[in-house]
Amino acid sequence: MASFPYKLSNKLFQAKEKFLFRSLKTNYPNIDFSSNDYLGFSTQGYLHQEILTLEPSIKMGSTGSRLISGNSGLFNEIENEIAQFHQSESALIFNSGYDANLGLLSSVPQKGDLILSDELIHASLIDGIRLSHATHYKFSHNDVVSLLDLIKRHKETFQEIYVVVESVYSMDGDCAPLIELAHICKQYNLHLIVDEAHGIGVFGEQGKGLCQQLNIQDDCFARIYTYGKAMGCHGAAIVGSEELKQYLINFSRSFIYTTAMPEHSLLAIKAAYQLLIKTPEINKLKKNITYFNSQLKNAHHFIKSESTIHCMILQGNQVVQLKEEQLLKKDIFIKSIKSPTVKEGQERLRICLHSFNTQQQIDLLYSNL
Ligand SMILES: Cc1ncc(COP(=O)(O)O)c(C=O)c1O
Repeated sequence: MASFPYKLSNKLFQAKEKFLFRSLKTNYPNIDFSSNDYLGFSTQGYLHQEILTLEPSIKMGSTGSRLISGNSGLFNEIENEIAQFHQSESALIFNSGYDANLGLLSSVPQKGDLILSDELIHASLIDGIRLSHATHYKFSHNDVVSLLDLIKRHKETFQEIYVVVESVYSMDGDCAPLIELAHICKQYNLHLIVDEAHGIGVFGEQGKGLCQQLNIQDDCFARIYTYGKAMGCHGAAIVGSEELKQYLINFSRSFIYTTAMPEHSLLAIKAAYQLLIKTPEINKLKKNITYFNSQLKNAHHFIKSESTIHCMILQGNQVVQLKEEQLLKKDIFIKSIKSPTVKEGQERLRICLHSFNTQQQIDLLYSNL
């Protein structure tokens, strides 16, 4: 075997020492309080049944990027449906949420522009911002005063200003103050970008997301919907104006330089949207969220949340790791979130609620926390 650099093996050793070593699993406990399959579309077989009602002879590969040989009428059809569902002019499908965020943030804000982002945005948005030539400042989490302060200080210096948030924060589960943000963006003529990864399927009529629940969809420059969570499949779409779509097709590198999504993945997205319209799972999920909150003890340890994500703060990487292992012995699957993924002292258990969790499972979970 070729030798492995000492510096790298030392990093692995350090990660183990600090309880930060990551390894891949194939066996999962039965009681799922961890996956992103909020509506059971993937694990409960609902999506599979729905896909069978669609095209039976699906092409497996896509043969090239969408600008070369990988595009098809199916893309256009599904993108039109997505745009309509999310009340927007256009939609553009990307291979994943990571690709969508990377492609959007790296190509849209230009040199001379400013990006103002919530300090807790997802790594995919951060990586896109890192690739952009715009200036970037963070505002304190969900703090409109901190945002306004930055706007007032910098609005004369920059040409375009982009405000980047998540509708539901992936590591905290709380929601952005979207109505206030939309108002501020309108007042100062800024461009609002909202990542709805954990909003779709959970908030809004037919799971349309938090922006549409709050009726601020027209105030957004771009919204990102990812399909690997409540939708139970894979991929993402950026929803916005037709001009934004044309711009991304021409300048977004994670859209241009990659093989197009194959038809079976596209059909899974189509089927997931069809399911959203009729599924009883959204109501079951909402009931579970209400039940979970009604049974909440030690509320001071929890971040207040109306979403699927509920975080119990237990300081220390070792403490959360041990708690995760303890729950595993009871067949309960919950991931601990350690620093530096979250701030030191903010290490936590991240509980994800699903439509298919039973009240007995929630009771069992509480009795073991
Ligand atoms: C807020 C947020 N945005 C984007 C992503 C990336 O989406 P995907 O898993 O489709 O790449 C995730 C998921 O990890 C996320 O939580």
